[in-house]
Amino acid sequence: MNLEIRPTRDGSPTLYNRQLGKTYHSVHGAVQESVHVYIRAGLDFVLERKRRINLLEIGLGTGLNALLTIQQSGRVPCEIRYTSLEPCPVPTEITDQLDYAQCLGETAFFQPAFHRIHQASWEQFQKITENFSLLKRQVTLADFNGKDCAYDLIYFDPFPPSAHPDLWEEPTLAKLSRLLVPGGVLTTYCSKGQVKRNLRAVGLDVQALPGPPGKREMTRAVKPEAVGNQQLSKSA
Ligand SMILES: C[S@@+](CC[C@H](N)C(=O)[O-])C[C@H]1O[C@@H](n2cnc3c(N)ncnc32)[C@H](O)[C@@H]1O
Repeated sequence: MNLEIRPTRDGSPTLYNRQLGKTYHSVHGAVQESVHVYIRAGLDFVLERKRRINLLEIGLGTGLNALLTIQQSGRVPCEIRYTSLEPCPVPTEITDQLDYAQCLGETAFFQPAFHRIHQASWEQFQKITENFSLLKRQVTLADFNGKDCAYDLIYFDPFPPSAHPDLWEEPTLAKLSRLLVPGGVLTTYCSKGQVKRNLRAVGLDVQALPGPPGKREMTRAVKPEAVGNQQLSKSA
């Protein structure tokens, strides 16, 4: 088995991929990092303006971001359609051992929700809660054609550039930029200078934000409304 469960400093678990020598989350705190980067800097930011959200995640992995999104969608009235790409699904004998529901407190609600995330069929939308539907796609980002798709928010959570450099280069980021609606937001834990330059090069407004515990910075990138309008009128 290529994956092992490891504890992180906030008490929540993560996975370690032995082949890549990478963890799925920050060792300083998996839940802490995901809440900071994806929920606070991403979902909450978008929820200030919109309540029906089309969301794309790159890398379903443990399902932690999806579970935290369900948690937040129970606090703020909204409707979320969540598409997540995952070419290498984590086996259920491993996800069954990830105690994220306990970390979030209300185990009676989050345990079944977490189970439903991982039991959901691939390649079709499934309702996980009243206001959260999930589409799991077993594809790489390169193979995801995204035709007719437009997202308000992208959780960009692949392995880092040292492991998967192509995912952080301009052609891939240009594809993500095209998938965003005007005003759409991409959020990621990565704060590398070259990645921020690449995001700018594909036309996004890049903001360096304070990072989660253990990391100085993270990155949020927003698709300008004006650029989006020009693109829309060109393709119209
Ligand atoms: C850093 S982990 C984070 C996963 C997840 N968001 C979580 O909270 O557990 C990166 C994930 O990206 C997936 N991945 C690897 N290559 C990918 C690709 N080319 N396209 C999309 N996802 C990929 C991995 O299998 C892994 O599950």
